[in-house]
Amino acid sequence: MKKPTRRQFGKTLAGTAAAAYAIASLPRIAFAQMATAELLRFPPNFVWGCSTAAYQIEGAVNEDGRKPSVWDTFSHTPGKTFQGDTGDVADDSYHRYKEDVKLLKNLGVTGYRFSIAWARIFPDGTGQPNQKGLDYYQRVVDELLKNNISPYVTLFHWDLPQALPGGWQSRDTSKAFADYAGFISKQLSDRVGHFFTINEFTCFTDLSYKTGKFAPGLKLPDAQANQVRHHAVLAHGMAVQAIRANAKSGTQIGLAENATVYVPVIETHDQIAAARAATREGNAPFLTAVMEGKYTDGYLQREGANAPKVEPGDMKIIGSPLDFVGLNVYTPEYVRADSSPAGYVVEKRPSSFPRMASDWLYIGPEVIYWAVRNVSEVWKPRALYITENGCSSDDVLTADGHIEDTDRVMYLRNHLTHLHRAASEGYPIKGYFLWSLLDNFEWADGYSKRFGLHYVDYKTQTRTPKLSAEWYRDVISRNAVE
Ligand code: FCB
Repeated sequence: MKKPTRRQFGKTLAGTAAAAYAIASLPRIAFAQMATAELLRFPPNFVWGCSTAAYQIEGAVNEDGRKPSVWDTFSHTPGKTFQGDTGDVADDSYHRYKEDVKLLKNLGVTGYRFSIAWARIFPDGTGQPNQKGLDYYQRVVDELLKNNISPYVTLFHWDLPQALPGGWQSRDTSKAFADYAGFISKQLSDRVGHFFTINEFTCFTDLSYKTGKFAPGLKLPDAQANQVRHHAVLAHGMAVQAIRANAKSGTQIGLAENATVYVPVIETHDQIAAARAATREGNAPFLTAVMEGKYTDGYLQREGANAPKVEPGDMKIIGSPLDFVGLNVYTPEYVRADSSPAGYVVEKRPSSFPRMASDWLYIGPEVIYWAVRNVSEVWKPRALYITENGCSSDDVLTADGHIEDTDRVMYLRNHLTHLHRAASEGYPIKGYFLWSLLDNFEWADGYSKRFGLHYVDYKTQTRTPKLSAEWYRDVISRNAVE
């Protein structure tokens, strides 16, 4: 006999008062295990993880030789962040990392993506390495491995050492980054198998040097802003080469990019082709350049005289082959085929489009499927990871110490359902890292936006698992979503 579906099963149970009593008295997880739903299973060895970043969680900004990053300077500048919030203390993870590894362990994750603060390792950006800074990350890696959690290391998550002259406006910064990347990979690759060069190009280039929303808060004209973009992708490519030259052989190298994800308005052949075309052109300064080792004609034409100045050999470096692509996936753009020269148009979002607590975080769970599919079809990477996905909610800590973040569970469940579709269609998706392990310093939004699976009381640094943590633990233990 065919197993009853989950819905039939529920109906049968609901038929008897005794069964209703049984449900009410069972803990949530036990009930989930009883259900005979046809689960959406992920591939064997799928990596389940969480993500964080140094400046958002560590605090201890003046300890053990660390010097300021641009985010220290920026957040201490009046008017730049929500209520003047800074990362001075953040989650104090610098001191509490063992407790945070326990949180990971309780979730059952097999991977943890965290970033290294460049300014702890080379406090002036270049020069002599700072042993105490390195020791800290050695301790974190040891603690993870002791708990059977694989470290996935991001080398740059926006906290550029303040001391570097000109920041990303200077080409020397690309070279300094490669030196730092080579050094770290030499130190850690005996125990760290995966490195991400850079996290989200647009956030430390355009948002930092063009709109001024992020550190260092500049508003440069297009030609200069495009040059910053070029130095960023160049830094990535130089770092890939430096890691290959210094790390243990077999070390896996990629990046964590928030490529713009184009969802076809309708799933027809033409609309899907439009989404592919938009994927290339819409990501031309960053992911397209990295994957193809060239800027598209469209990008160069659009920028005209403001196009970046490229030195001989740059594009080949930028296009250095990768072992995997990491995608940070949040918000969709919807695209429609049309008869314009580009062949597509990006739709305007209606004002009623649903979103989460952050004003930029629109909800379109199919975004994660199309992120994987578009990138796979356009560039055929060997492997893909979702390196971030998650959401902010208006979490409330109840008097009895619970956070019932049903909206976050809804968001995550729907995204994982669509990610499962990508896995089941055979795209090479190897893992998923949820943003974030715990509430943290959300950049210009300070502590006003909470993305964590664990609620952080910033006065006491107490971490409390939310309902979503319980839900994620269940997903991981079953390697499946309902
Ligand atoms: C991403 C960032 C990450 C976090 C999430 C919410 O853009 O990489 O640090 O702020 O958004």
